[in-house]
This record gives sequence, structure tokens and C-alpha cells, in this order.
Amino acid sequence: MQYPYQIPDFDSYKIAYKRSVEDPEGFWADIASHFFWRKTWDKVLDWDFETANTRWFDGGRLNITENCIDRHLTEHADQTAILWEPNNPAEATQRISYSDLHKRVMLFANVLKEKGIKKGGRVCIYMGMVPELAVAALACARIGAVHSVIFGGFSAQSIADRINDAGACAVITCDGAFRGNKHIPLKPVIDEALKSCSTVHSVIVYHRTGEAIEMQEKRDCWWHEEEQIQINAGNLHCEAEEMESEDPLFILYTSGSTGKPKGVVHSTAGYMVWANYTFVNVFQYKAGQVHFCTADIGWITGHSYILYGPLSAGATTLMFEGIPTWPDAGRFWQVAEKHRADILYTAPTAIRSLMGFGDDIPAQSNLSSLKVLGSVGEPINSEAWHWFYEKVGQKRAPLVDTWWQTETGGIMISNLAGVTPSKPTFATYPLPGVQPVLVDESGKTIEGNAVSGNLCIRFPWPGIIRTTYGDHERCRQTYFSAYPNLYFTGDGCLRDEEGMYRITGRVDDVLNVSGHRIGTAEVENAINMHPGVVESAVVGYKHDIKGQGIYAFVVCAGANAAEDAAVVGIKHTVDKAIGPIARPDKIQIVSGLPKTRSGKIMRRILRKIAEGDVSNLGDTTTLLDPAVVEEIKAGRI
Ligand code: WT7
Repeated sequence: MQYPYQIPDFDSYKIAYKRSVEDPEGFWADIASHFFWRKTWDKVLDWDFETANTRWFDGGRLNITENCIDRHLTEHADQTAILWEPNNPAEATQRISYSDLHKRVMLFANVLKEKGIKKGGRVCIYMGMVPELAVAALACARIGAVHSVIFGGFSAQSIADRINDAGACAVITCDGAFRGNKHIPLKPVIDEALKSCSTVHSVIVYHRTGEAIEMQEKRDCWWHEEEQIQINAGNLHCEAEEMESEDPLFILYTSGSTGKPKGVVHSTAGYMVWANYTFVNVFQYKAGQVHFCTADIGWITGHSYILYGPLSAGATTLMFEGIPTWPDAGRFWQVAEKHRADILYTAPTAIRSLMGFGDDIPAQSNLSSLKVLGSVGEPINSEAWHWFYEKVGQKRAPLVDTWWQTETGGIMISNLAGVTPSKPTFATYPLPGVQPVLVDESGKTIEGNAVSGNLCIRFPWPGIIRTTYGDHERCRQTYFSAYPNLYFTGDGCLRDEEGMYRITGRVDDVLNVSGHRIGTAEVENAINMHPGVVESAVVGYKHDIKGQGIYAFVVCAGANAAEDAAVVGIKHTVDKAIGPIARPDKIQIVSGLPKTRSGKIMRRILRKIAEGDVSNLGDTTTLLDPAVVEEIKAGRI
């Protein structure tokens, strides 16, 4: 494939950026013209941040799978679309060509239709990183169903909440998943979740681990059996459903500062254009290259840079089932070597943990194929940046630090590999189409360079969030009401002398633990479900590997004698309510929380104590009971 909109040098970037600001409609219309449309759009852009409404390519008709699969069949049918590396290196790699992917997606799309799943219906996908997960998502898109992928680490209760919020009619899952030396049960978790869901009529189970599971008659069926039925009936072909540009493509739940995760909704056309444009430009993808993104498809990074970005560009996307540290801490580098990966896109937390195993581990693999390195998910510290660049990229491969969010659909601020300048720990310059603004607490725009403030975006880009599922007002409130006519990211940011951006982290009550977004209120709600708990307050603290760790201050009923049991019980409660990713690293049982006279918890104080920065806690005179602070300080873990 050719990418006429791939930016070749810094001057071209400046020209593209300027045009994207001065003539956004012309700019995006030109780019969109390189996709396959059943009917082109009537209007490029319609938007109103006051009501949180954005429409891109309105009146256009398309199906994203025709752009991700069918259009590559004329010239690249035999090229590998998905290169799958299993958890266990002893198991065989799978190579799925564009032609195979086409057949598999159409066949499974027919299974979905047979199960009564229709255009607009919501389908929950809860699977491990098997190629069938990609097939399942694409098959939904083929028939116009809206997929909602849930990360395999979430508990039954959080799955139930998401299924009920989306009103999903079907679930696609696996018996279990392999991760390192563990078997993770998936179907039993779905069984548990579905006890409190009434909308799901079908569960399709892909056979992966072979562990014994229960199948509920009428509701549950096996993936391979259903496919065989379609094959026997000769239903091999499935015409792509013609979708409107603004029809929803998927829902992806993410945490915010309230207790309840939001279903971020992305559209079909705008998301597709954005995922593709950012993929092609940030990673400077060249035809024939192998793109290795280590994320899980349960998160937005996997959606945009394992599935839709690479496939829409006709790339070979490497999908890895396993974990970085099994069978040993060289696994990522071995996978990169084995498949001659050209691009490696991973997270700072993985880099920091692998760094700890020593420089000789990456040195044992031949990493000469790597041409571009990428980082995403949290601010990358200088040490990790340099280690990745020097020991993995051997100072040869440019490193892109990509800042973006579930809500933005794709990369927003990043250097373009080898094309625009890079600066360690800086995401650097915005992509064409992205207009960052820094504002102070009062909402005043901060002009000029060498300044910092809250990061907002002043104009819509094609991948912008369209709504939060079932509650548009929540979308408006969360992202468009803090500052008039601006999209608010929730991140703090500085702009240096050269106008380069560095994201400094969240300014709201959202934690970033190993690159996973977790709301403090969500963890508090979970902790409070434990019968012995009266109340709790959760804050983040700096963690060498995870970026942030979770510190919980908990008030329990009764004597503190049973503290150890309470701590174990609280961890278990959080595992059940959310999943182990939200389990607090530290739990301190306290007799009270520092509150103002109006009853508001002073998190500022708790944050300082959790960080170990107790010398100056600031003004505590407004506290109801200042003595409690001394007790908490003394009991710090
Ligand atoms: C939050 C979004 C974007 C996909 C993965 C996370 C933080 C993300 C960077 C970066 C500094 C970053 C921000 C952002 N973040 N990338 N390169 N530098 N911070 O998606 O779960 O929606 O989280 O991750 O705080 O708001 P997410």
C-alpha cells in the first residue's frame, strides 16, 4: 500500500500541521479520500463542544472491515495480516494472511448472524490474546454490531456492570487463557457475571486451554461447532453491512474520577481515519514491515495499534499471547528477533521491569530488525527512556513517546519516528489536527513557551470520543464542561522553550498503575464493600516499576486487633469487585481520616503521607481532628 499522506520530513510536518489548522476540512477530506467508501460524505465536519457533539464525514457510508481486509485482497491477499506468537514458545506460530482473515471474519460473522446478533447490537468480548479475538471484533464490525472488549483481568462483577450498562445481547469468550505459567479461567468468570445480567442470550466459547467448563444449554455454544454448522450450510461469504460514518464501532470502558467506569464510544469513519493516519505517521510504517505492539486488545492501544491502525494500513501486525517475563525476561526480545519485528511499541512499566533483569538480556537477542521503538501509557522516566533507546534500539532506532487516551482514539502528541525531533521524556509536538492548549485553574489560557498547566484540546480531531454510552450528559460534563469550548484531558502538562510538550500526569483522582487507568473512587467503592470497613480513602504514590502504586487508608469497625485479617479480606474484596489490577499495594488501617469540618477528605495530606513526604503537610488547621494526621503519619507503611 502507498500512504500519500505519510509525512517524510520535519518541514513537511510543519506544512501539514499548518494546513490542518487553517483548513481542517480540506486537510481531512484529502486523507479520507484514500479509504474505501460505499458512498463519500456530504459534510466533512460538524461540531459543537458546548453540547459535546462531533460528526466527521457525515453522510458517508462504509464498512471498516472492507478497509481493513477486502481492499488489501487485490494485491496483498497472501501477505500476513496477523502474525500470532503463542504464550508458550514451544507452540507453533500462526500466520494469517489477508485472504485467510477475510474468510475467517466472514465465517464467524455468519455465526454471529445465526445467533440473532444484528446491526447496532452490543457484543461483549472477554478473551485472551488469541487470533480469534481479532476475528471476533472484526466479525462484529462486519455485521455492524458494536463490540465491547473487556480486559481478561477484570472480575465477574465488573464484567456484569459493563454488560448491563451496554445492554449486550451476546458474549464471546474462551474456556480460559494462558499467561506465563498460569491458566486463567475466563468462561467460569462469565458464568458468574451472567447471574446478574438479563440481556445476554448467547455465549460463544472458543476452545483454547481445554480446561473443563460448564456449558449452559441453549445459551452457550462452542465457536468451532458453530463455524462447522456454517461451513456445512455453505455460508462462507458475508457481505459487509453498509454503515454510516457516525455509526458506533465500539464501546470501551475506562475509569474516571467517579466510581462508575464510562463506556467510551468511538465512531466508524472518524476513528478509522485517525487510527490509520496516526499509525502510518508516528511509526513511519513502510510496506512489508512487521509491527509488534505488546498491548492487550482489552485496552485502547490494542484496538488502535494491533487491530484497526495496522490492518487498515495493510500491515503485518504481530499479536503476542504471553507476558514479558515468561519463560524468561528475554521473551519480548526473543519474539522481536524471531519475527524480525521492525517496530516495537510497549509501555514504560514493562521497560522498567525488564531493565531490572540487566543489560545482557536484550543483548542475547539479535535486535537488528528494529527500526522504530514506541512508548505509551504513562510518562516515561529518563532512565527507562535511555535504557530502551540504548539497550534495545542500540541507539539506531528512533523512540516515539506517544501521548493519548482511550477517549482520543489514537495518538495525539508524539514525535514522528526519525522525521520530527525527539527529546527524552517529552511527547514533543502535536500531530496534525491536534491543537493543544494549556489552561490555569481559573480556565485562563496560558500563552507562550516554558509554561505549564492543564492540558486541553481546542478543536476536534477525527478520533475524538463521540459519547459515553447511554449517558451523553456524562460525556459533556466530564470532558467539555471544565473549560468552555475545550476538551479537557485530565492531564497536567508543560511546554518547553521550543514549544515541545511533556505530560506530567493526571491532575484528577485517576491513578495510572502499570499503564492501567484506575479511579480512586472505584477502588474506594470496592474496599467499602468489605463488611468490616466503615470508610476508606485511596491515593497513588510513586512506584519504581508500576509508575504509581495504590495506597489505601481504611477505617474498620471494631477493634484493630484483627488488622491482618482485615487487610487480606480487603484485598480479596477488591479482586472480586474489580480485579487484581486494582488491588491496593499498601493498606493502612486507621482510626479516622483527615476531614475538613464540612466532611471532605483532605486527599492532599494523604497523598503526601503515602509519598513519604511528611515534613510539610501544609495547612492542617481546617481539619476536624488534626490529631488523626499524627496517628496516620506514625502508622505509615
Ligand atoms: C492516560 C490515558 C493511550 C493508551 C494507553 C492509556 C497517560 C498515556 C502517555 C504518555 C504521559 C501518558 C495520561 C493519559 N498517558 N500515554 N506517552 N506520556 N502520559 O490509555 O487508559 O486511556 O490512559 O494515560 O495520563 O491521560 P488510558
